[in-house]
Amino acid sequence: MNKLVHPTPLDREIKLDASKIIMSKTDPKGIIEYANDYFMEISGYEEYELMGQPHNVIRHPDMPKVIFRLMWERLHKGENIYALVKNLAKDGRYYWVLTSFDTKYDDEGNIISHYARRKAAPSNAVFQIEKLYKTLRAIEERQGPDIAEKYFLGLLEEKGVDYDTFILSILETNASVLSTYFGFTGQNAVKEKKGGIFKRMFG
Ligand SMILES: Cc1cc2nc3c(=O)[nH]c(=O)nc-3n(C[C@H](O)[C@H](O)[C@H](O)COP(=O)(O)O)c2cc1C
Repeated sequence: MNKLVHPTPLDREIKLDASKIIMSKTDPKGIIEYANDYFMEISGYEEYELMGQPHNVIRHPDMPKVIFRLMWERLHKGENIYALVKNLAKDGRYYWVLTSFDTKYDDEGNIISHYARRKAAPSNAVFQIEKLYKTLRAIEERQGPDIAEKYFLGLLEEKGVDYDTFILSILETNASVLSTYFGFTGQNAVKEKKGGIFKRMFG
């Protein structure tokens, strides 16, 4: 299997069609098994290049590790999570997405797949989260991800909110509106979170 060369980031944004979903599916370890047409169009890759690759092929270096750490912790527990993500296209351009991550199980409760559904991120939300992500990345680079995580927890503690409430406040919305926005209904609607690194702090 060929390993993809990570592109050099360019300071140029790809504008997304707000009505479209960028979707991908992975195995339990985050190896890409499927991506829809809009994913391929925006990322600039061909299917034969992406399938079988780890999902960090589109990771942008501006993304803090602590956000993915939180995402994986929640997915391993079967909890849905929303995150604002800056992704890197093959040509080095970037695109901001609001991503809904979730998990599918077999009858015995084993994880079969993870799913990510992404839509264009609202620009005022990007404006706010970009500032935080810059701070987190700078801490990670100089002090490591554990210290960045502590800083993030401190910030949430100061605001008196957990991660989900924080993201919803940045998006100026609530969980049920967001569920509908991604087309989730009934059983697929956002699941209540049960724990995670933020739970450790807020009990
Ligand atoms: C279903 C699914 C979708 C993902 N989508 C993205 C994505 O769009 N961008 C991204 O940078 N990482 C995504 N990830 C997370 C990556 O697997 C990886 O954890 C992340 O890029 C951090 O890379 P690193 O672990 O090498 O630091 C996704 C993971 C899963 C399970």
